[in-house]
Amino acid sequence: MKSKTIKELLASESVISNITVMGWVKTRRDLKKQSFAEINDGSTRQNLQIVINNEDENFKHILSDVINGASIKVIGDLVPSPAKGQRYELIAKSIELLGKCPQESYPIQKKKTSDEFLRTIAHLRPRTNKYAAMLRIRSELSFAIHKYFRDNGFFYVHTPLITTSDCEGAGEMFSVTSFDIGNIKNLPVDANGNIDFSKDLFEKRTYLTVSGQLEGETLALALGKIYTFGPTFRAENSNTYRHASEFWMIEPEMAFYDLYDDMDLAEDFVKSITRDVIKNCSLDLELFAKFVEPKLMENLSNVTETKYERLQYSDAVNILEKENDRFEIKVSWGVDLASEHERFLVEKYFKKPIIMYNKPKDVAAFYMKLNDDGKTVRGMDLLVPRIGELIGGSEREERLDVLTNKMKEFNMNPDLYWWYLDLRRFGTVPHSGFGLGFERMMMLVTGISNIRDVCAYPRVPGYAEF
Ligand code: 4AD
Ligand code: MG
Repeated sequence: MKSKTIKELLASESVISNITVMGWVKTRRDLKKQSFAEINDGSTRQNLQIVINNEDENFKHILSDVINGASIKVIGDLVPSPAKGQRYELIAKSIELLGKCPQESYPIQKKKTSDEFLRTIAHLRPRTNKYAAMLRIRSELSFAIHKYFRDNGFFYVHTPLITTSDCEGAGEMFSVTSFDIGNIKNLPVDANGNIDFSKDLFEKRTYLTVSGQLEGETLALALGKIYTFGPTFRAENSNTYRHASEFWMIEPEMAFYDLYDDMDLAEDFVKSITRDVIKNCSLDLELFAKFVEPKLMENLSNVTETKYERLQYSDAVNILEKENDRFEIKVSWGVDLASEHERFLVEKYFKKPIIMYNKPKDVAAFYMKLNDDGKTVRGMDLLVPRIGELIGGSEREERLDVLTNKMKEFNMNPDLYWWYLDLRRFGTVPHSGFGLGFERMMMLVTGISNIRDVCAYPRVPGYAEF
């Protein structure tokens, strides 16, 4: 059954006789003696043109089924194509219909359809040129990320998805339980009338992870440089173009790195993986530049070629305070900067990616290292045009006493984090890391403006179909 993909065929060194090709029909047009069917098998954005002699008795009965969406198997000769824009075409010798496609009910029509409609048929939208291109880029981007870290001496580690700790301390976690929660009467209850999780499978309350960082730190403090690349879950009720409830995060963590090393790595990493996508996905990117974001290539060279602006939170506040008229949330020192502020800085003020660092401790996570001023922490965010925050990271608080106090300030129970604190008890070292949202990176490289359209099956508040 093994046949060549269209990508392989179009790259062929020479003509080939009696080759088998399978794929889905995109279009067919008929001339007097010949019909031309464009087929695609997903391996590349390019279609293969099948030339069919429609006076041949063998083809006559099948031709009416060779239509948009139908799947066919063709045996024929690959020959140079006289038509422009394609190297080869396939002269059909036999055609087998693998699967019919009734046009009246097939939701993928040739005319342009909206992204909103395509989301309702997420199982079929990969058949469209745009979503197939998105998925190929997603694959390539994943590979580029692994390659970057491998080339730079990082180890790929796997942190648990089921966890008992809240890394970001924001309480936005999904519960994990083996209880039959559909039947409230069956839930075990303790003396205080609360659900008794000691009777649950893990004998305690568990959640889906919001970040692999804490466990990642333990591995970096043994292996030096590690990264995770895995699913992350947030029960935050943010219904925006850039928030998903389930997304993939890449989290490098490095022993002996300070905040400046961390920022250098973040910038180099984003540039490098963007370059790889530009190099390896040119055909698919062309589609996005043509139909989705006319300025895509210009935007991408802004990502790969500029030196990112580095500014401290306080400097950002100085700039933003002068522009308060334009903002819904007014800026003053201490506020947690919102998307509108971040986007003003990257899109209007600096017009390039920026890395903002040293934010106030009260709007930062508990694990970020306290600066000597006692007011700010060594955290950083990498912000990019259109999307805002692409990366969040920090140097970690490696001093046991400072960290323990910080946890108490955050109403966390240090006893529950005994293992995390052990890192500071036994051979503590300065270390840093960051998290990159994979879907936001996908939005950056494709120009797609909604996170729902860079995942095969998005999970967002109010929507978990398929
Ligand atoms: O800034 P965040 O919350 O940082 C952390 O989770 C740290 N533990 C990372 C670390 O230092 N190891 O999330 C990191 C990135 C964000 O910058 C954003 O790109 C992405 O994850 N992200 C989301 N992407 C999609 N949907 C959401 N709801 C996201 N929340 C965060
Ligand atoms: Mg963040």
